[in-house]
Amino acid sequence: MGIDETSIEESVPVLDPRVIVALDYASKKQALEFVAEVSPEVCKLKIGKELFTRTGPTLIDILVSKGFDVFLDLKYHDIPNTVKRAVYAAGQLGVWMLNVHALGGYSMLLAAREGIDMIGTHRPYLIAVTLLTSQSQEDLDQLGVDQEVPEFIDRLADLAISAGLDGLVCSAQETATLRHRLGKTAILVTPGIRPAGTAAHDQQRTMTPEQAVASGSSYLVIGRPITQHANPAEALSVINKSILD
Ligand code: C5P
Repeated sequence: MGIDETSIEESVPVLDPRVIVALDYASKKQALEFVAEVSPEVCKLKIGKELFTRTGPTLIDILVSKGFDVFLDLKYHDIPNTVKRAVYAAGQLGVWMLNVHALGGYSMLLAAREGIDMIGTHRPYLIAVTLLTSQSQEDLDQLGVDQEVPEFIDRLADLAISAGLDGLVCSAQETATLRHRLGKTAILVTPGIRPAGTAAHDQQRTMTPEQAVASGSSYLVIGRPITQHANPAEALSVINKSILD
């Protein structure tokens, strides 16, 4: 049998893949059909509210047992005790990363950190969402927050890091400022990524994977450019090659 050089090249493993594929599917079946196309050596996987609400922890169990790093993107925001218990419960599922809303406030962030610490040495990374990228100055004004969006994001970022969180979800546009502000160790996870020449879909201000990494992003959340590609493994491989260190 002849050697297919393309497939060999495409299967080159990437140590600690930087790409987190957003599994924005409505069913476990669809998600698993996609997952069959990739491997833990080339990407991590993100499960959000829709898929988790439909599949529950079962899908996480399957993905973790296949060796994938799973980012559980449920953005907890509740009273501190509830968040602490939810974070602990999520950590026990074996996920690699999970998140909370920094808007829950300092006590809630501290409680989330306590919940993570209860898991022990193999704890997941705990990161915070500052402002949603869908939120504008108008939203802050309506909420009675008397600050400009960039300053408010910095404030929430500082609050999360000072409560002991590992990092933040941030837009591509915020990454460079936050990297500068928070230093090397903070984990910055960036959605809104589009390889050059691909459709933006509903994302307003996008960056290429290369630009995002150059700005200081630690991990890139990418959905449709990979999941809706005719050949997801190939789309992922091209992205991985473009950001090889
Ligand atoms: O398909 P696409 O690459 O746009 O998917 C991006 C993923 O990142 C989606 O799961 C979306 O919900 C998530 N996300 C985002 N913008 C944020 C936070 C999360 O696009 N500010």
